[in-house]
Parts: sequence; C-alpha cells; structure tokens
Amino acid sequence: MSIKIMGTGSALPELVVTNKELEQMMDTTDEWITSRTGIRKRHIAVTETTTLMAVKASEIAMKKAGIEPEEIDLIIVGTVSGDKCFPSTACQIQEALLAKNAVAFDINAACAGFLFGLTIADAYFQSGRAQTALIVGAETLSKMVDWKDRSTCVLFGDGAGAAVVRKTDTGMLHIVQGSDGTRGHVLACDNRPVNTPFTRRLFTKEFFARASFAGESFPGAACTREFSGDNLSAPDYLKMDGQEVFRFAVRTVPKAICQALEKAGILPDEIQYFFLHQANIRIIEAVAKKLGQPMEKFPTNLQKCGNISAASVPILLDHVNREEKLKRGDKIVMAGFGAGLTWGAAVIIW
Ligand code: COA
Repeated sequence: MSIKIMGTGSALPELVVTNKELEQMMDTTDEWITSRTGIRKRHIAVTETTTLMAVKASEIAMKKAGIEPEEIDLIIVGTVSGDKCFPSTACQIQEALLAKNAVAFDINAACAGFLFGLTIADAYFQSGRAQTALIVGAETLSKMVDWKDRSTCVLFGDGAGAAVVRKTDTGMLHIVQGSDGTRGHVLACDNRPVNTPFTRRLFTKEFFARASFAGESFPGAACTREFSGDNLSAPDYLKMDGQEVFRFAVRTVPKAICQALEKAGILPDEIQYFFLHQANIRIIEAVAKKLGQPMEKFPTNLQKCGNISAASVPILLDHVNREEKLKRGDKIVMAGFGAGLTWGAAVIIW
C-alpha cells in the first residue's frame, strides 16, 4: 500500500516585494541578498490570509485531481502561521470546501510540514483509516518576522501549496523523517507568554531566576523578557542562527535523501527531480553536489518566492507540475527541513 499524488495546487499573494524595494526600507542590498541566498523577490500578504490561500490552493489541487469534497477523508495542514490558534487551519479549510467526511488537523513541523503531512497520510492509508487526503502547506511568515531584522526578514515569503493524495499499490516508495529538539533554539519564535493576573503577581523575573526543577532550569525562564507590564501578550518574532541552520541543512538533507533512496532501492541517477525546501540556493547546490547530481534536476522557485516554510515544497511541486514537466512513472524526491529541528525526505513515483 502506498500513496500517489493525484493533483496539486498553489496560491500566492498578489503583492511582490523585490530586493530593490527592501533596499529602500532597510540597510541591505539586492547584491547581498541575491549572492547569499538566491532570493530576488517574494510575495507578501496584504489582504490574503493563511486560510484563504490554503483554500485556494486546495480547490485547484482538487480540481486537477478530479476529486469531490466528500471524497476527502483526511485534511492535514502544515503551518506555523495559522490565522487562529483555533479552530485549526485544516478545520477552516474543511468548512470552506464542504469536505464533510474529512478528519482535519494542523501539524507544526515548520518547513518539514508537508513531508510530515505525507508521512501521516501514509500511516492513515496503511491502517485503513483513510483513502483520499488533502495535504496542505500554508504560511504567512511576513507576520512572524521582525521587519527591522535584516538578517531574517529578507528571507521569507507567504503562500500556500496543496496536494490531493490517494491510497494506491504503487506511489510512495519510502519516506524518512527526523527531529532534533535539542537544537530547537537555532530557529525559534515564541508564542504569547503566560500573562494572567496571577503571573503578574507571582512570576517575577526573580522567581524565574530562582526556579529550577530537578536541577534543570525552568523552560519558561526563556520567556522572561518583559514580565513587568501589560505588553506581555505581544508575541515575539522569529529568531535564527543562520549559519547553524545552514550547517544543519547541508549535513542532514543529503543524508536523509540517501537513507530514503537506499530503503527504496533506488539510485540518485534514477531520480527525475529533487524537490527541496526552498530556503537558500547555496543549500540546494551543496545538496546536489553531495548527491553527485546536476542542478538541472533541482527545480527552484526561491528566486521569486523566498522561503515559504511548510508551503515551499508543495508550491514548487505545483509550479513544475503546471509546466507539465512531470510524467506518470517519474521517480521524484521531496525533502523539507527547518525549525524543530525537523526534516523529512520522500521518494515517490509520480
Ligand atoms: N543585508 C546586508 N547585510 C546583512 C544582511 C542583509 N539582509 N543580513 C545580515 N547581514 C550582514 C550581517 O550583519 C553580517 O555583518 P558583519 O559581518 O558586519 O557582522 C554579514 O552580513 C554576514 O552575516 P552572516 O549571518 O555571517 O551571513 P551568512 O553568510 O551566514 O548568510 C544567511 C546569512 C541567513 C543567508 C545564511 O546563514 C543562511 O541562509 N542560513 C540558512 C537560513 C535558512 O535557510 N533558514 C531557514 C531554514 S528553514
């Protein structure tokens, strides 16, 4: 038993922001951004929301797959930037699509979200719990970045990608996933800290400085930044140690791809396309080199879209699919990596 991709879709915000425009807003240059990352522009949401883009991408994917809403029995959305804490983006999509027979939920695996979604769908298919799934990656990262931090805000963009997948006898050959929570701090974004009348009374900075549990420092101590006023409910922005993330990606991604290929009994040469998370062209080049594969096998859209976290792989897949570059029977690899740290790689027959 396995999974097959039946249709793909994507949606991007209307506004395109170029590196040149960013030059006018902050101390950066088109040359710096392009040479370090490959990114030239990105789509930024103004009126669009994570859910609206996710619904649009899903509708296109369903149409391409020739699937009716009632046929979908599983909706999984990878996102770190849903519009609401609850209901989940997946449940909002279910409502919009009238996919009344689906079980719907979000997952937070950051930029590996789509790959983790595929893995979960595969497990549901294998256990007989579902037949047809809608897997979505949707993000509005522009609201999570600090637009005064030039080292991060130039990297990200907004958008959504979706794929309808079905249980079949052939399709996914192997998938690997991994996580390393010990390195979570290298790419992180705090949520709202606990902020109640009780915390204001009890949880002073001194409390956190003294607090320890079984010799470990209290995890909440990291959230002590402003425990003195009423501005505590303001969420924090994304923070990243770019060089650490870079090192993690170039070490982990080729390894995960090789593991997936080995388990599938396939050589890299047999792969038509490698769809990698679109974070940085230099990461993609390093992976291609380690796998001994030409860059032509690595489609990219980061030049136009930037890094769209969980949406990046399904958007890229849809862009290539729309250009009719994929033929049934082609063997492809998809790989995602990001905050968590998390990573996943899948070998699939298109
Ligand atoms: N414009 C101009 N200068 C910038 C800048 C910008 N947008 N952002 C940072 N700089 C400066 C830094 O301040 C630093 O200046 P200094 O040398 O005077 O201190 C200099 O550029 C080099 O910064 P550094 O962080 O060492 O650059 P880098 O070569 O590591 O490139 C990244 C930074 C973020 C592009 C790179 O580390 C990267 O791509 N990492 C992976 C990030 C990623 O993919 N994250 C998402 C994973 S899902």
